[in-house]
Amino acid sequence: MKKPIITTVALLLVLALSSCSGSGTESPAAETTVTTTAAAAVTEAITEEMKNETEEVSEIPSITEDFTGGETVGVKRGSAVLSVVDDAAARNGRALFIEGRKESWNGADYKAELFRGNEIEVKGSFRSANKAVRVSIQFNVRGNTTYNMVFAVNTNDSSYTSGSGKYTIPASAERIIVYIESDELKDIYCDSFSVNVCGDYTYYEEAAEALFANTSDYPSLRDTYADLFRIGMAVSPTVLAKPEYAELIKAQCSSVTLENNMKPDAMLDYGTSISDPDKYQEAPAMKFSHLNYELGFARDNGMTVRGHTLVWHSQTPEWLFYKDYNKNGELADRELMLKRMENYIKGMMEWTTENYPGLISAWDVVNEAAADEGGMRKSLWYQTIGEDYIQKAFEYARKYAPEGVKLFYNDYNSYQKQKQEDILSFLKPVAEAGNMDGMGMQSHIGTYMGVNEYMLALKRYAEELGVEIHVTELDIGADRSDDWEDKQGKYFSRFMKKLISLRKDGVPITSLTLWGVSDSLSWKASDRPLVFRDDLSRKPAFDAMINAVSATDGE
Ligand code: XIL
Repeated sequence: MKKPIITTVALLLVLALSSCSGSGTESPAAETTVTTTAAAAVTEAITEEMKNETEEVSEIPSITEDFTGGETVGVKRGSAVLSVVDDAAARNGRALFIEGRKESWNGADYKAELFRGNEIEVKGSFRSANKAVRVSIQFNVRGNTTYNMVFAVNTNDSSYTSGSGKYTIPASAERIIVYIESDELKDIYCDSFSVNVCGDYTYYEEAAEALFANTSDYPSLRDTYADLFRIGMAVSPTVLAKPEYAELIKAQCSSVTLENNMKPDAMLDYGTSISDPDKYQEAPAMKFSHLNYELGFARDNGMTVRGHTLVWHSQTPEWLFYKDYNKNGELADRELMLKRMENYIKGMMEWTTENYPGLISAWDVVNEAAADEGGMRKSLWYQTIGEDYIQKAFEYARKYAPEGVKLFYNDYNSYQKQKQEDILSFLKPVAEAGNMDGMGMQSHIGTYMGVNEYMLALKRYAEELGVEIHVTELDIGADRSDDWEDKQGKYFSRFMKKLISLRKDGVPITSLTLWGVSDSLSWKASDRPLVFRDDLSRKPAFDAMINAVSATDGE
C-alpha cells in the first residue's frame, strides 16, 4: 500500500508523542509516489524532515521483551540466574526464567539510564509459585540510593498475570535500574516486559547535577551569628563527601555533630570484646578509625565538634550490658557496669584528646534519660546501675574531660511540663556536684508548638541548673498546607528572634545545631523540617534565620 509521505510523518509524530507508546521506534516506510518537480522539492524537504524526525524518534528509549528471539537484555541481579526457556503457558511460548534467587532483591535488572527525567510506564507479565512479583526501580540521587516499587502483581504458578505502573524518574537520577524481584525466593517466569516513555521524551545526557542551587552567595549563618552563638549541623560521611554539601557546611557552620558515627553502636567493637571476655570484661573494646574523616573535616575547616553521645539507651548494643558480653547469660551487675561506663567514657575522651586536641567543645554525656510517661527511663543503664547512673556518668566525664570541654545533658520534648520537672530533679545533684556545664534542648519540634512554652523552659534550665544552653538538634516540621514553606519560615522567624532576645538578655545560649543539611537528608524527611531544600536552594526558614539577627538589633 502506498501512503502519502506527509501522513507517514504525521503518523510518526503521533507515535512518538503518544502517551506511553511502545511503538515509537518503528522505522517509517521510505516510499513516495509524488512525481512533479515542485512536488519533488516539497518531497525532498519533507523527506529531510522525516529523517530528522526519524532520528529523534529512534532515540526515544524503549525496552520491549517478548523473549521470542531466545534472548534478553535483562541481566542477573544478585545471585539470580537468567535464561530464556520454552514455556507452554507463555503467550508466545517463550519466557525469561529467573532462578537461583537467594534474597528477595535478586532477580532481573534492566538498565534504564536513558529514561532519566521522564515519566515511564512499565508493564510485565509473570508466573511464579511466589505469592507476588514486584517490579521496582533503583537509582542514585546525589550519592543516595533510592529503591521504589513501580507495581506488584499477585502471581500463581500455572498461568501468567500482568500488571503495569508508572513512575517519574528525577532528572538528577543516575545508575537507573528497573528490576524484577519478589519477597519469596522461588523461581519467576516472565513472558513479556516493557519500559516506555509516557508523553514527550526529554533526553538528559547526564544526571542533572546542575539541579544543585549555587549556594556560594548565600549569607553565612556562622558569620551572621558570630557574636551570638555557634551554628552547627548534623553531618555524615556521605554528606561530607559530596562537594556541594561540604561547601555549604563550610560556609554556614562553625560546629558540627556526627549524626550517628560517635554513638556507642558505632564505637564499640563486639568481635574483639567477645574474643577474650576476661580481658575486656571491664573495658569493652572500641574502634576509632571511622571517626577520622568527619573529625578531620571539622578540624581542617576550623570548626568545633559536639561529641554525641556517651550514655544513651538507644544505638547502644545490648551485649554491652551482659556479663561476658553474652546476651544469653546474666545482666552485668552495678559494679561491673560502672567500670564499663567509666572505661568507655575514658576511651572516648582520651582518643579524641590525643588525636584531635581542642576539637571537641562539648559532650552529650547523658542522652534522653527522662521517660515519656514520666520519671526516669528504665533503660539498661538504669536497670544495671540504678538511679544514680546519670550522676556517675557526669562524674567520670568530668574526671577525663580536658579543661574547658563542656559537659551536657541532652533530651527531646524537654520543654514539656512533666519532663521539665523530671529532668531538673535528676540533674540538680549533678549540677550541684559541679559536674555539668550545659543543657541540650534537642528541639525536634513542629510549627504547631508554642514558642513561648519552649523559651520559658529553656530559661528555666539555665537559671535553675546554672548552666549554658545548646539547641542541639533543631528541626521544625512543617504542616501539610499549600503555603507550608512560608508558614514554616514565619515560625523559624519567631523562634529565632525569641532565642536571640533571650541571649541578649543574658541567657547563656552558646550553640544552635540544625539536625541535618537539607530536607530529604533529615531523619524526619517527610516533615521537611530544615532550612534548605533538596537542591540546596534556601527556604524561607533560612532567610528567617538570617534576618532574625538584624531584626533584633538594638534589643
Ligand atoms: C537520629 C539520627 O538522625 C538518625 O539517622 C538515626 O537513625 C537515629 O538517630 N535524638 C538524638 C539523635 O539524640 O542522636 C537522633 O538522631 C535523633 C533523636
